Amino acid sequence: MPRYAYVNGRYQPHSRATVHIEDRGYQFADGVYEVVPVSHGRLVDEDLHLDRLERSLSELRIDMPMSRRSLKLVSAELMRRNRLSNGFLYMQVTRGVAPRDHKFPKQAVPAVVMTTRQTKPAKREAIEAGVGVIAIPDIRWKRRDIKSVSLLPNCLGKQQAFEAGAYEAWMVDDEGFVTEGTSTNAWIITKDKRLITRPATDDILNGITRISLIRTAESLGISVEERPFTLAEAKDAKEAFITSSSNFVMPVVRIDETAIGNGRAGELTLRLRDGYEAAVVRGEELAAQ
Ligand SMILES: Cc1ncc(COP(=O)(O)O)c(C=O)c1O
Repeated sequence: MPRYAYVNGRYQPHSRATVHIEDRGYQFADGVYEVVPVSHGRLVDEDLHLDRLERSLSELRIDMPMSRRSLKLVSAELMRRNRLSNGFLYMQVTRGVAPRDHKFPKQAVPAVVMTTRQTKPAKREAIEAGVGVIAIPDIRWKRRDIKSVSLLPNCLGKQQAFEAGAYEAWMVDDEGFVTEGTSTNAWIITKDKRLITRPATDDILNGITRISLIRTAESLGISVEERPFTLAEAKDAKEAFITSSSNFVMPVVRIDETAIGNGRAGELTLRLRDGYEAAVVRGEELAAQ
């Protein structure tokens, strides 16, 4: 367990860190969060994550709890105290503490919590073996672009995947198009080698890994088609994969009972993963200069 958590201005022992029972995050899921990957002791795409945090907060009319510079200082200090080298930093901001009432409190002070988790980088064999996903209906609200802590449908979907022996659930909208995974973005590569992912509208969370991977693909000369794809198209794809801060690029080798490609990680998917990892390392080198 990490040693410290940051809670509203204080670094507290993680095992004893607490928030108020009338925090609106607890009562109404009235807050947002970010998960920022950490590789070799550095935050990956920190500014992109902070851009999205600011955007999520402003969509919910919650003030930034402190300046971006201060958020960066607190993150760095927490990572230092917890000796975090690989894993992620979790950041959560809620509207604050107030007597329970659906309306916004008049003078709420946003509450901020940060924690860290050390994880091991995924093994190459696990990446090459890939993961399975199941398809489930997307039962979420219509503002999935906001990284809200209201994740109940996502938790239900992930549990359903787990019970079905799969790693992730791809959610499918009423028209039969895949929106995204419960904590990942969804991608396919068609038999004629077109790389496709759903456009970043209110229908999905615009993943930071998704944004970075689009750049990586372009730098590798691979063009990305941003359009919705159906579940049937996904099952007929040559390759498929998911992206997220905790998985980077993870090959999908099975959707429900259908094997994708030859049932192992696809060639282009692995090229994209390697390209993404190289970009992370380049970012670290630049930051170290
Ligand atoms: C619903 C959903 N979609 C996509 C993602 C991937 O986003 P990112 O690449 O920023 O981790 C996440 C990450 O938590 C998510 O919860």
